Amino acid sequence: MTNKVFKILYENMGEFVSGEHIGSLVGVSRAAVSKAISDLKEKGLEIVSVSKNGHKLISLNDCLDGDIISSITQKKTKFFENCESTNLEARKLADSVELVVAAAQSKGRGRRQRGFVSDFGGIYMSYIIKPSFSPRQCMLINLAAGLAVFDALRDLGFEPYLKYPNDIYIHGKKVCGILTETLADVDTLQWAIAGIGINVNNELPSELSEKATSLAKLKEQRLDRAQIIKNVVRYFDYYLSQDIVMHYTKKCAMIGKKINIIDDHAVFEARAVGLTEDGLLIINRQGKDEIAVGGEVSFNFN
Ligand code: BTN
Repeated sequence: MTNKVFKILYENMGEFVSGEHIGSLVGVSRAAVSKAISDLKEKGLEIVSVSKNGHKLISLNDCLDGDIISSITQKKTKFFENCESTNLEARKLADSVELVVAAAQSKGRGRRQRGFVSDFGGIYMSYIIKPSFSPRQCMLINLAAGLAVFDALRDLGFEPYLKYPNDIYIHGKKVCGILTETLADVDTLQWAIAGIGINVNNELPSELSEKATSLAKLKEQRLDRAQIIKNVVRYFDYYLSQDIVMHYTKKCAMIGKKINIIDDHAVFEARAVGLTEDGLLIINRQGKDEIAVGGEVSFNFN
């Protein structure tokens, strides 16, 4: 019932809706509506109640709550106050939920067996997809995740840079990392888990301050994480049905530029030429086009 009341307020965000009207839509008494409104206020939502006018949802007030995320994303969500890694939880829950979100992670996982600092205030989400892609196309899911975050951040007024294949930077500092993991047999991708970590309202440790930043620091204000999650999921679904390579090529700041590829043995310079139809990076190295396999890409933003 509280969820239904929330939905009505959310659909009318910024407008008063009378208790009577909410009651008639949900099929409960005004007293029951008042109770639901109190519960929502308790969760932290910014709601104004005026006896003559009714109730108005002003903002989600950065309230991160499983029911609210589920309601606004329309995805079956499992929420953790704290877990080791949403990607690990998503593996266990892949058959029963679509989205796993945590307020913090104790063992956030990054690429190349690195960790991902995951203190309270950030977004740590894993989106479970059962796509009709073949296993060799799994990079496309990673790129679609990057595009989704790119658009969600651009809508907030940021100028994000996509760094192939997993990262998003703003003003030369990392704000988002993506780790996509898959379960596949020879010819079928059973599921893909796109793990997305975004520095939003979290404080970053001082040793990362040269390399990474948070959206709140850049904007000088806290941002609503649930709204960002909603937009990431919405754009993600959109891109999964699109020509991902075309969109990524258009938006990726690196394509056409000089980059450094760092592999286990050496650093070499190349030009990022474009992407294969499966989303792999084509580089031009000493006049010859080749597919960059493995290796870390480094890119000078200036
Ligand atoms: C990277 O920068 O190397 C990728 C970081 C990916 C972090 C996200 S946070 C949500 C999901 N759960 C994890 O443990 N990792 C991903």
